[in-house]
Amino acid sequence: MDDKSRANLFYRYIFIVISVFLLIGLMVISLVANEEQIFILFSLLIGLIIVLVLIYHMFENYVRPIRAASNVTNELVKGNYNVRTYVKPYGEAQKLSNSINVLARNLQEMSIQEKMQGSQWKTVINNMESGLMLIDERGYVHLVNRKFIHMFGNKSVQYIGYLYYDVLTQTSIHKVVQETFLYEEKMTGAITTIINGNKHYIEVVGAPVFNDLRELKGAVLVFHDITELKRVEEMRKDFVANVSHELKTPVTSIRGFAETLLDGAMEDKGLTEEFLHIILKESTRLQALVDDLLELSKLEKEEMKLAQKLIHVDSWIQSIIRLVEQQAQKKSISFQPNIESGVTFNGDPDRLQQVLLNLLYNAISYTSEDGTVGLSLQENSEEVEIKVSDTGIGIPDDAKQRIFERFYRVDRARSRNTGGTGLGLAIVKHIVEAHKGSITVESEVDEGSTFIVKVPKKW
Ligand SMILES: Nc1ncnc2c1ncn2[C@@H]1O[C@H](COP(=O)(O)OP(=O)(O)OP(=O)(O)O)[C@@H](O)[C@H]1O
Ligand SMILES: [Mg+2]
Repeated sequence: MDDKSRANLFYRYIFIVISVFLLIGLMVISLVANEEQIFILFSLLIGLIIVLVLIYHMFENYVRPIRAASNVTNELVKGNYNVRTYVKPYGEAQKLSNSINVLARNLQEMSIQEKMQGSQWKTVINNMESGLMLIDERGYVHLVNRKFIHMFGNKSVQYIGYLYYDVLTQTSIHKVVQETFLYEEKMTGAITTIINGNKHYIEVVGAPVFNDLRELKGAVLVFHDITELKRVEEMRKDFVANVSHELKTPVTSIRGFAETLLDGAMEDKGLTEEFLHIILKESTRLQALVDDLLELSKLEKEEMKLAQKLIHVDSWIQSIIRLVEQQAQKKSISFQPNIESGVTFNGDPDRLQQVLLNLLYNAISYTSEDGTVGLSLQENSEEVEIKVSDTGIGIPDDAKQRIFERFYRVDRARSRNTGGTGLGLAIVKHIVEAHKGSITVESEVDEGSTFIVKVPKKW
């Protein structure tokens, strides 16, 4: 009730009371003698004033607060928890108004908390690294999170309210749901899906949902993207296969030549010497392979602690240049170092020397005679940039990323002839990354390649 109607009610009461008093006055005046009339009228007037004051008091202290309180409760019922009622500093209605205000405040706090909790849950669910789907006991989808949408596409409205088997096509998922419902236990399955054009492996885990009475109320499906895990597993398998293969070749050859020698070839001195040379060469290769493998595994285990020294490039690079010059001369390759002088930076001098030698020996190996190999080193305020370039055979586009993989060689036969193990660049990459740096390659087939190493000056 608004103030206007409340005022109307108040005036109506006043009007009735005044009318009653007027009526009584008229009746009494007609019945009594003149001299008593004044006295009676005066008494009636006093009585009227008292009644009016009482009515006003009643209105102010009871009717008005109760009306206000009922208005506020109406608003609370509607869910508007911001409302408060006016509290008179005294009177009986004060308690009622106070209680209503406390109630309203509590409700408001509760609703704020509820909203916050709700949004917290939403945030958690939507920012999970795994896809999530909630299905009720009849198979209707109740919830899907953002990651799920990312994995399976469409919009959440295209899933929610539908039967799971109508919106998910993979039968492996149906199987997981059915088994989860059947056995009332956690079940797993696997699917593949295309995300942004790439194939992804997804593990599906179904878990039953129970209520307090342990009645089955539905299932939660969680979708983990295990593509990376699969890749690592594949790499591990490949690695084992590659290592075995790489070891097998020299071992078979050593064994074969040793057997041939024992079978009688030893009688021939020339043949013996030739075979022993082969055996030596193969065992050197075997040793190089084992050394590289040990090196890699040390790097991977992070056992190797990088020495952090201030490298003075001018003196540090001299020994590298000398070693490379010798190798280059043997193949009549022109080696052209171009080193900015006075550069210093932090790093492990021995490991970084290993990086440069690996890159430079590759450049010499994969460049034909009379070619050119370059080495440049420049600095800027944050990093040191080292470029190793050659005018060699180059690297095809599809191999550019793969050459950093262990055992990967563009041309297996040719590379093996150079005595390579195919582990050099894998080691290089590891060392550069341990220095928080990066390595990239630019190359044109038959024109040459440039390897660019960037290492931060401080790490
Ligand atoms: N400068 C280059 N020009 C052309 N191809 C290169 C160059 N550097 C590397 N490659 C290619 O990358 C492959 C991998 O190089 P990596 O150094 O890892 O192995 P490798 O040279 O065969 O053997 P090693 O482990 O003994 O160095 C090489 O086999 C070669 O095919
Ligand atoms: Mg190499």
